[in-house]
Amino acid sequence: MLKQAEGNEGPFGPPPEYTYFMRTPIQYPNQPYIVPFQDPTVIIPAYCIEELKNLPDSQLSTNGSMYDRFAIRWTGSGWVDKELAHSIKYDLPTEVDDFFPTIQDEIQHASNESLPDSQTWTSRPPQEVLVNIVGPVIGRLMVGSPLNRDKKWLTSSIDHAIAVVVYSTWLRQFPTVLRPFIAHILPQKKAVQRSKKGIAESIAPLVQKHLGDPVESKASSEEEEEGRLTKWVLRRYKPSENPHFSPSLVEKDHYSLCFAAIHGPTFLLVQAIIDLASYPQYVAPLRAEIDRELAAAPFEQWTRKTVARMKFVDAFCKESARMNPQGVIGWLRKTHKPITLSTGHCIPQDTLIAATNPRYNARATPWIKDADRFYPERWLEDQVDEGRDANWRFGSATIDSLIFGYGRHACPGRPFGVTMVKDILAYIVGKWDVRLSGGLTERPQNVCMDFVVMPPIAPMGNVEVEFRLRK
Ligand code: HEM
Repeated sequence: MLKQAEGNEGPFGPPPEYTYFMRTPIQYPNQPYIVPFQDPTVIIPAYCIEELKNLPDSQLSTNGSMYDRFAIRWTGSGWVDKELAHSIKYDLPTEVDDFFPTIQDEIQHASNESLPDSQTWTSRPPQEVLVNIVGPVIGRLMVGSPLNRDKKWLTSSIDHAIAVVVYSTWLRQFPTVLRPFIAHILPQKKAVQRSKKGIAESIAPLVQKHLGDPVESKASSEEEEEGRLTKWVLRRYKPSENPHFSPSLVEKDHYSLCFAAIHGPTFLLVQAIIDLASYPQYVAPLRAEIDRELAAAPFEQWTRKTVARMKFVDAFCKESARMNPQGVIGWLRKTHKPITLSTGHCIPQDTLIAATNPRYNARATPWIKDADRFYPERWLEDQVDEGRDANWRFGSATIDSLIFGYGRHACPGRPFGVTMVKDILAYIVGKWDVRLSGGLTERPQNVCMDFVVMPPIAPMGNVEVEFRLRK
């Protein structure tokens, strides 16, 4: 029988270090157990992911989990169809090198707009700064220039995922049977609708243009860039042969990508900046690498290979992501048929399942020594270990690091996403000094809400970060 973990502290709890997550995987190392999150979830032993990772979506899916946790039934946002996943997996990589110079341009422009142009320490909200850098860069990929800097598109796209998370978090506080009645009257729904309307109206001309144009036709480089995502997904939806096609499918793909592509990288960067401010001893080795590359070529001429050469930047990002996962659980899935684990337990149909994030389960990664210590060098040491299947890289999707998930639905945008994160961090570290406000010297703890782990910044915490031009 499945056991319920002891000591649930409720949806708004203290940092997970002090909750049952550190205890329960040790208590029940080889069996699943239920945790009473807002939506009760069966936590499977980490090694069981390996036996489930290739199951078809009809049996176990990521979309099912998104549907329940993010109220897709009422928001229509967050569902990932194969057309979107395949566009990111197969179309994006073939165009990255072409648009690398535009990424450099966007990073410089957005960072210079958001960060102080002065050698006086100035407080800036890190989330706001970084989402306003990531947003236009990802915008260049999704909609192209000039729409990526358009206020309506940018604000709607940035606000969308936040609005959905706020709405679904409120809704999930009500019992499941009541949700259909409350869903329509929750005032938080207005923000979701507003952001969807802003995105749909902004991209409508692009969708019309690409629906009218044969998508394979030759175009100038500016035209080539306009509505890149629209073009990729249309090629896969094949509107002329598909009686079920509607432009709303393209809109839905834009909504869903706001979650992963804008907020995933922003979250990593916010945590990396807090880590940098908390562990200033890493500024020198990071700058040694960044300055070496800047001496060889100015930032605007950097390529994907330049970013790949910066091994310490990679190790720093990986360690920051390992120490600050986005949830106490990862690998979120829902069963659509009963599944029997090798432990002998049968998980019923329509059950939310997940694995404890390795950060909160020492047993999952016994080879990570001194796991509570922020120590990026550990990943440099591993670079000489050929037997570890490149697990040391920031972008690896492995069972011991669920940052990007694992298996058939592992994040298809991660090769691009990690390059962009490292590139943005390198630009900031190369040009600005960073410190925690208020004379803080210790790394402030993250904040936990239900299963989500957030940086300790407003509105969940009060940590502020100060920047000044590098001295
Ligand atoms: C760099 C920071 C990013 C992080 C931390 C991140 C994280 C994740 C995670 C955890 C998943 C779920 C995987 C699973 O459950 O197995 C995912 C899925 C996904 N991500 Fe990312 N992601 C990032 C960047 C991106 C970018 C830049 C894009 C697009 C350009 C993207 C597109 C997607 C898509 C389309 C999926 C759904 C895949 C599917 O369901 O088959 N992500 N991401």
